[in-house]
Amino acid sequence: MFVCLCTGVTSQVVTDLVAGGASTSRQIADACGAGSDCGRCKRTVRSIIAASAQRRDCPVHAGR
Ligand code: FES
Repeated sequence: MFVCLCTGVTSQVVTDLVAGGASTSRQIADACGAGSDCGRCKRTVRSIIAASAQRRDCPVHAGR
C-alpha cells in the first residue's frame, strides 16, 4: 500500500525502516522522503511506527 503519494513510498518501506531502528516520522522522512513534501502522510507514517513498535514488543512477533 502506498503511504506517501508524493514520493511513492509504501507501507513496507516504512515498516522496514522502523525495523531498522527508525522511531520518528522525521527519521522516516530523512531516510526515504515520506512526509517531507506535503506532509499529508505523516499521520499514517506515525501509525505504522506505533503498530510496528507494538509488534516488536509482542512475544509472538518479536524478531520479525
Ligand atoms: S503524501 Fe507524503 S509528503 Fe505528500
